[in-house]
Amino acid sequence: MCGIVGYIGPRRAEGVLLDGLRRLEYRGYDSAGVAVLDSGDVAVVKAAGRVQDLADRLSRRPLKGKSGIAHTRWATHGEPNDVNAHPHVDCGSSIALVHNGIIENHGALRRRLEEHGHAFRSETDSEVLVHLIEEYATGDRPFEEALVRALKDAVGTFGIAVMSLKEPEVIYGAKRGSPLVVGLGNRRDEFFIASDPAALLAYTREVIYPDDDEVVRLSVEGVETFSLDRVPQEKSVESISWSLDEIERGRFPHFMLKEIFEQPEVVVNAVRGRLDAENGMAVLGGLRDVEERLRGVERLTVVACGSACLAGAIGEYMLEEYAEIPTEVELASEFRYRKPVLDPRREAVIAVSQSGETADTIGALREAREKGVLTLGVVNAVGSTIARETDAGVFIHAGPEIAVASTKAFLAQVTVMALLAVFLGRQRRMSRVMGGRICREILALPEKIGRILEQNDRIRSVAEKYAHYSSALYLGRKYNAPVALEGALKLKEIAYIHAEGYAAGEMKHGPIALLDSSFPVMAVATRDSVFEKMKSNIEEVRARRAPVLALATEGDEEMYRLADDVIYVPKTLEMLSPILNVIPFQIFAYHAAVARGFDPDKPRNLAKSVTVE
Ligand code: G6P
Repeated sequence: MCGIVGYIGPRRAEGVLLDGLRRLEYRGYDSAGVAVLDSGDVAVVKAAGRVQDLADRLSRRPLKGKSGIAHTRWATHGEPNDVNAHPHVDCGSSIALVHNGIIENHGALRRRLEEHGHAFRSETDSEVLVHLIEEYATGDRPFEEALVRALKDAVGTFGIAVMSLKEPEVIYGAKRGSPLVVGLGNRRDEFFIASDPAALLAYTREVIYPDDDEVVRLSVEGVETFSLDRVPQEKSVESISWSLDEIERGRFPHFMLKEIFEQPEVVVNAVRGRLDAENGMAVLGGLRDVEERLRGVERLTVVACGSACLAGAIGEYMLEEYAEIPTEVELASEFRYRKPVLDPRREAVIAVSQSGETADTIGALREAREKGVLTLGVVNAVGSTIARETDAGVFIHAGPEIAVASTKAFLAQVTVMALLAVFLGRQRRMSRVMGGRICREILALPEKIGRILEQNDRIRSVAEKYAHYSSALYLGRKYNAPVALEGALKLKEIAYIHAEGYAAGEMKHGPIALLDSSFPVMAVATRDSVFEKMKSNIEEVRARRAPVLALATEGDEEMYRLADDVIYVPKTLEMLSPILNVIPFQIFAYHAAVARGFDPDKPRNLAKSVTVE
């Protein structure tokens, strides 16, 4: 949510910053802006809209400087327009700042600063930071000192990059609760700062992750890190494993479609080296240190947001059925504020998050840690806050996910939940034979996913047929109830069609009242233990004349008697069926969005990584 990027080195900053912003655009696309040190001035150019709008403006007014900061915005305070776009500057136009996060005490700070004569230009919370720094940067007080004083006054979350004419060849960064990464150029003559490693990958793989309440100082000589009390901090240099290819769109028209098509490989990567089919075991190195503690766990709580939470809901079915551990899934935003009762001796909390930076999931995790509970992460972004703050965990290895709506990360999360069920199940009463069966079925998934992807054209024509409806009801049972919710979520978030996901058994307690010939139903009706019940539900839908699109198991010709349209998926174990069944819904939503003329990669009002509450 909001992308920030900064550069200092021998190149023209403008190009590096625009390139970084393009790669971060999925974090927000309400406005974009840059500040570059140009001929002794801080030159600021901003534009409402996409990064391309900013690039167009810059093409008319190129900036030559070699250090600068930039921002792409997801609006929280103040509508998306030129004035509210970052960077923000102080009254003297000598300090420029970009910010990701929320300054909660901005109202009080703003009043105080206005009383002292500061003139604000925007409605944003972020602008107070730059005036606050200006307020403290008087006389010959070092800029650095003014910066840390201002940050100490701020309540809330921030990842910032800031530059000042007082120290023209320097960029400062700082964070509290929002992500920030520093890139070290290969020849150590250029340095980068960003809210996400994707912005740096074209230039370097070597990074430093500042911790909360740390400040970094980037100059052409190097990077220094210190605390808010200005005590130097030792940081280790880490290496990013993602490649540039992975963050480029290649032959696909959108990242979302590319990511959907990566899914056979995504499962391979999520389970690589982790399946011992012969012994029916999942080998999870990230859990080794807590293996004994996990044996004593009698209750699990999964905390997550959005699609990650739905992946957790599928995990709940798996963990209860196969590991026999009572499991609850909870929206992180609820869990963190409702005083959950947790027993540190017997319980563990699993945080599921693609980005590892979702503010509510971090909040829930910290709540659990405070109570002394064992915390595990199921995370994609290595080096992210959740990855670092959990006691142990399993990376999903899905590679960078750029499209805002999650597809491949969701699939990898569910796959890892299956691995966890085997791992924890085998610690308990699951037999070697059962473990082996699940492992072998997981290994067969990539080929089966490929068979679904081959139907892309057919699913497109079905999606085009349904794209003009204004509503849809998604139904599924048991393992596929969360799939129904995920299918509906995908459709509403990218195609802007009102869609509800329901556990099919609940349909007759409400949503059936909505159904008629203008309200289609998408039903997961693959052959599993609840197939007959699902068939009855479809009959009930048909009796109300609602059009039906069914997902059915390959070979189930009978389904055409019940449904208007059928998409076939290969057979697998019931517990793994969500991994296959969600894919037609992803493809369907993608094509529905395109058919309706929307950009599926950048749905309105949404952001990829929600770093505010
Ligand atoms: C946003 C994204 C979703 C994602 C959710 C949780 O809403 O648009 O695709 O599922 O955040 O994100 P996380 O990074 O924690 O998985």
